[in-house]
Amino acid sequence: MNALKPRPGILEIEPYKPGESDVAGVARVIKLSSNESPLGPSPRAIAALQASAKEQHLYPDGTCAAIRTALGRHHGLDPARIVCGAGSDELISLIARAYAGPGDEVLYSEYGFLMYPISTHGVGATPVAAAEKGLKTDVDALLAKLGKRTRIVFLANPNNPTGSYLAKDEVARLVAGLPRDVLLVIDAAYAEYVARNDYSAGAELVTAHDNVVMTRTFSKIYGLAGLRFGWAYCPPAVADALNRLRNPFNVTALAQTAALAALDDIAHVDAARTSNDIWLPWVTAELERIGLAVAPSVGNFVLVRFPEGKRNADAANDFLARHGIIPRKMGAYKLPHSLRITVGTEEDMRFLVSTLAEFMGA
Ligand SMILES: Cc1ncc(COP(=O)(O)O)c(C=O)c1O
Repeated sequence: MNALKPRPGILEIEPYKPGESDVAGVARVIKLSSNESPLGPSPRAIAALQASAKEQHLYPDGTCAAIRTALGRHHGLDPARIVCGAGSDELISLIARAYAGPGDEVLYSEYGFLMYPISTHGVGATPVAAAEKGLKTDVDALLAKLGKRTRIVFLANPNNPTGSYLAKDEVARLVAGLPRDVLLVIDAAYAEYVARNDYSAGAELVTAHDNVVMTRTFSKIYGLAGLRFGWAYCPPAVADALNRLRNPFNVTALAQTAALAALDDIAHVDAARTSNDIWLPWVTAELERIGLAVAPSVGNFVLVRFPEGKRNADAANDFLARHGIIPRKMGAYKLPHSLRITVGTEEDMRFLVSTLAEFMGA
């Protein structure tokens, strides 16, 4: 028997399974499994990456000063309160490490992003899920689960994989109900896609409270998932804790360079948003037309529920795969009757709909 044992909690982690990227025997695949941008990276980011390739023998700026200054200017935030990470995933785990440990509880919503329970187990704390209502975070259910041991509440807004969001007064109500020693993390990975006037990514709540953090990413609308760049806007004491804990060079020079260029490429972000604004409602309506149930989404993906029986989600997944389309299976989220599908290009969406229509016999 092996005498070596990882710390409590580690073996309870259900390893995160990323979206698949290939299908055996299919040359051109349409990857709709990870909510990546169908437009790719900004051409300005590509040029900046190429130009900086020859400087990669140098360590990056461990403080991410240039990109923090640019993010501060872009969003009207204090750069001193921004902490950068290798994707927002890294920030989620750093926050868990900084604020929770064995004996503590970390709260999130039933269908919340999988990295919350993973990071919680990773620090030996106990994940606690609050039931959702109609695939949407229920603030009252979250507040009802608060206990003496609760240290962190993770809220994805909008949420992945459901696509639903909480209006800003609901998030404010959640903050108002939290003890001041419980940290609320508002994970706004998909904020740039949301076109609702009652939505806010949460920066103003961070400014007003010393127990609220907002995390953001360049993996979605900015099209830089491969480089791993995310950032958190924090109360000063939280920024201080994360800066002590993070690795000194946690964000590569290439990620900083590309994020800086991508942030300035307003036209590219606008194009990604415009494309999503067209194809999200289109694909939602078309899938409903062929008899599928689509959860209303404000992100760049849809959660599609399949019937039971021979046209179930697993069969749909296999059928799509045979046609080179890769959606995301939802078993890990305990939504086995659904598939999550990223909103892609016009060509991809038309092919998706015609393939699913064939599958449904429509
Ligand atoms: C809600 C949510 N938060 C965070 C992330 C992590 O993104 P990244 O680590 O690439 O910044 C994702 C990625 O799918 C997500 O869906």
